[in-house]
Parts: sequence; structure tokens; C-alpha cells
Amino acid sequence: MPEPTPPAPPAPAAATAAPPPELPATGPDEVALLIDDKPVVVKKGTTVLQAAERLGIVVPHYCYHPGLSVAGNCRMCFVEIEKMPKLQIGCATPATQGMVVRTANTRVKSARESIMEFLLINHPLDCPICDQAGECRLQQYAAAYGRGESRFVEEKIHNDKGVPIGPRVVFDGERCIKCTRCIRFCDEVSKTHELGLFERGGHAIIGTFPGKSLDNNYSGNTVDICPVGALTWKPFRFRARVWFLRNVPSVCIGCARGCNVELGTFDHRIRRITPRNNPEVNGWWMCDLGRQTYEPLDGRPRLEQPAARGAIAAGPPGGAAAPAIPVTAGVTPGEALDRAAALLRETAARHGAASLAAIVSARLTLEDLFMARKALQQAGIGRVVVPPHESGEDDPLLLRRDRTPNARGAEIVGLGRPDAAATARLAADVKAGTVKGLVVVGEDPAGDGLLEAPSLSALEALVVIDAWRTPTAAAAHVALPATGPYEADGVAVNFQGRAQLARRGVPAPGLAEPSWRWLRELGRRFGLAGSWNTASAVFDEAAAAHPPLASLSHRKLGANGHPIVFAEAAPGGGAPAPGTEAREP
Ligand code: SF4
Ligand code: SF4
Ligand code: FES
Repeated sequence: MPEPTPPAPPAPAAATAAPPPELPATGPDEVALLIDDKPVVVKKGTTVLQAAERLGIVVPHYCYHPGLSVAGNCRMCFVEIEKMPKLQIGCATPATQGMVVRTANTRVKSARESIMEFLLINHPLDCPICDQAGECRLQQYAAAYGRGESRFVEEKIHNDKGVPIGPRVVFDGERCIKCTRCIRFCDEVSKTHELGLFERGGHAIIGTFPGKSLDNNYSGNTVDICPVGALTWKPFRFRARVWFLRNVPSVCIGCARGCNVELGTFDHRIRRITPRNNPEVNGWWMCDLGRQTYEPLDGRPRLEQPAARGAIAAGPPGGAAAPAIPVTAGVTPGEALDRAAALLRETAARHGAASLAAIVSARLTLEDLFMARKALQQAGIGRVVVPPHESGEDDPLLLRRDRTPNARGAEIVGLGRPDAAATARLAADVKAGTVKGLVVVGEDPAGDGLLEAPSLSALEALVVIDAWRTPTAAAAHVALPATGPYEADGVAVNFQGRAQLARRGVPAPGLAEPSWRWLRELGRRFGLAGSWNTASAVFDEAAAAHPPLASLSHRKLGANGHPIVFAEAAPGGGAPAPGTEAREP
């Protein structure tokens, strides 16, 4: 009898695919879609690439930039969309209700490998000598999405290298991937239209139109947005490898806009300044003038030690090399401050308190300005002027006519806005001899042509606090060395009425201190009480004393600043610059 067949094991339950995630409910202007099985709701008009970014999913891209129109030419952002037979470019495909998108399946990965291979066909092996190395999207994407090898054995197409296409920008035709970001920037943002794409196919090349050069005040932005090393910033070329840079978030001091920036520092020097996105102030951009605001730190003669008349001399105006000058020997900070206080006191005793006056700069930080007001009041100096520094007109993008970063800060702490008439009246009184004692903080009235040498030498007390060895400092009875741009933490209030914290990027030379420290010490010699040891402590006191700053602190200002509420509307209405409005990520 045959053995009975054992009963067949129960058939495994048929594998059931997990049901797709439910799409969330949407509002009238919204659509819901699935990207890599994750649901997301976005506004109508949002692209697939932007919707993926919302989920934290990276869709690699070269030609897309959130501040420019969509060109859709690099094809790096391919994604697969259900019910569409071909891969689609995520940067130009609007998200629609119920769409199902895959950003990282085998088909998409294979397409990306092919695009990378194609883009690298004519690319030179320049990485070891390329300024973009370390922050180059070709390098990053080749590592993350490339094949790891090339099948191209033919001769590459060669192009001109190191071509100065503008006074500050150098072009390398071999590295260019023709993404056209630079062209779109010049057409859409700076609206200067210098650049075009010439020739066809593999021979296509970026260039300037006949008779033009990339010479607009925003040309540096083309370097920032060039995803590869085809456009480089002349002053930064071969100065530092980017992985050695310490990037400090700060604020440009070049004008009343206060663009948010990053200070790229290496070896205690600033090597470059690049923009930091703040949709309320500057968007992704900054001007070329602002990029160069650190340069005086490398060339302009500095005041590094406290000094007294006869022992210091001015450097050549704007000159690069300081002359060999005997610096005061043996004058300590305390002695210099004692001397300054004694001179001011003696002058007031001889001619009355009305014979004393001060010139204070709107280039100083809010902490400096606040302490200037306090210390000068304490010293009995009631006449304080803030000189204007204006040039041209406000431009339609960012640069302001007011080239001081903190005119509104001066107003908030009670020093008043920069006032040309009041400054001229003070200069006339110095010339006439009715002002006998002058404190100058952060200004150079002699170098600016406001006061001449005979007027300054007729003063009985001239106390200068400044970073530079200026003609005014050379004429001072006492000169105290201050920190220069980007050498101290401090707040500036921009023309929109936005308080922003500018952070220190590099140390100051010698015995230079923030102006507020010198002013605090000078004030103490007249009985000023208070123990402020940090810029943030000074700011806290300013915030307690001045209602527009109420409840603010360095910490609260954070990386992007805070709008201040004034009784009257700020000039310019506080609106962001045209073309810099916040967009979807
Ligand atoms: S130079 Fe740079 S930004 Fe301009 S097209 Fe070439 S790769 Fe793009
Ligand atoms: S616009 Fe003004 S604040 Fe902005 S980068 Fe230029 S100079 Fe600096
Ligand atoms: S980023 Fe979409 S095509 Fe270039």
C-alpha cells in the first residue's frame, strides 16, 4: 500500500503590495502629490523639483536657480512620473494633483549617469588648480551620481582659459557646462545684458557681446551662481582653497542696505565676501562694491597703538604701504585715555562746555553709537554731528546712495540722522575758533576735506578714535586705535529699519579695540557708571533704553535680523529689493 501523500503545506498568502499612502486634503490653491512614496502638499505652480526640496529630497540640478527663470537645459534633474512615458525634468514640470514621482529609481539613476558622462566629455582635469574645487557641483555630482569612469577616448574640444571677460571676472571656456545661469543673471537681475551663448553644439561658448565687457556692479554674482569653475572672482583666484576657509555669517558695511554676507576667512584674513540669502534684504545677491569692503584691511595704514600728537603721522590716503613712522613709545591705553580726558576737561574749564563738540560716524555699530552718546554726554559734550556719506543715487537692485550701514542706528540712539548742514556748521565753528575741543569717532574730517590742517592744529583738544592712520588722526592730541570693518561684533540698522548682527570675522591688529570700549573708558573718566564687557551687554542696555529695540538681543537677531517698529514708516517702506523677493524653495 503506497504511503499516503502528506498533505500539501498551506499555500503562502499572496503577497499584497502596500497600499499607496493617502494624499492629504488640499486647499483651493494647492495640489497634493507623492514623491518617492511621501505625500506633500504644495501651492499650484510649484515645480516637482521644488516640491521634492520641500520634502528634503535632493533632485540634482545645474541650470535651475531659484532666483532666475527656468532654462531646463542641463537635464540633470530628470525624474520619473507615473503615466508619462519619458523621464521629465523636475525643474520645469509643474506638480499636479495626484502625481506620483520617483526621483531615485534605476531608470533615473541611469539617466543621471549618462548626463554626468556627457557633461564631462569636454571638461578638463583641472580640479587641482581650479578655485571652484571643493564647492563644485561637477565634482559633487560626479561623486554622487556619476559612472566613475568615462568611455570618451577622443580628443576633447579645447577652449581659451583664463579670459578676463570683465575687470573682476575671469572665464574658463573649457570648464563651462553652458547652463546659462550667468546669461540669465545679466538679463533678468542686473539687466545689463553683457553675456550671450555663441556657436552651436559642442562648440557652443559663453562670451560677451561685441564691444561689451562683464563690467556691472553685480558681476560677482555670476561667479557665485556658476555651478562649476568657469567663472572665477579675480581677487580670490589662487588665494585660498575653499576647504580652508572659515565662513562667518555677517553683514556688509558698504551701504545702508546691509546685505547678508559670508566672510570667507583664512589665516586671520578675509579672502572673499559672498552673499548669504536673506529674502527680506538682498535675496541671493550682493554688489561688487560690497565684495571689496574688506580690502582696506589688507592695505590701508592702521592705527595700532594709542598715540599722541607729534608721534604719529598719516599714511598716504588710500595707499597700500604705510610709511616708516615712529610710533609713540610708552603710551599705554590708560595714559592715553587720562590725557584725552584731561585735555577735554581743561578746554571746557578755559572756554566753557559749549566749546566742545564731537563728530561720530554712522559707519560705527549700534553699540559704538550708543556708548558714544552716553560717554559724550557724561563728558559734557552736547554738540554731536553725524556726517553723511552719499554717492550717486539708489540703484534699482541693492546699492543705496547712503554709503553708511547704520544711519538709522544713529537715529535710534538719539544722535540723529546724518546731517550735512549740521556737519558744515560745526566745521565752520571749528574754523572760526569757537569750537576748541573735538572728539572724532570713526571719521576723517581732514581727509574728507571738511576741515583743513590749520583748523585742526588750532584745536586745544583733538581726540580721535579710529581704525586708520588718517590725516585727522595724525593731527590728534590723542589717537586711540579702533577695530576696523568685520573686526568686531555689532548691530547695524539698515534703511528698511531692520536690525542685523554683523559678526566679527578676523582679529584686529595691535591694541585696537571696538570704539565702544574706548568710549566706555573715556566716559568712566568723567564718572560714567556701568559694567558692559561685551557688545551684547551694551546692546541689551541700548535695547532697554530705546523703545524701537525693545525685547531685542544679539541672540534674538539671529542670522537674518529683525525688523524694528518705528513710529513713522522707514524710507523705502521696508520692501525687499526688486528681484529679491522670497520664492518657493
Ligand atoms: S560660465 Fe558658468 S554659469 Fe555661465 S553657462 Fe558656463 S557653467 Fe553656466
Ligand atoms: S548693496 Fe550695499 S550692503 Fe549690499 S553688498 Fe553692496 S555695498 Fe554691501
Ligand atoms: S536643472 Fe532641470 S534641466 Fe537643468
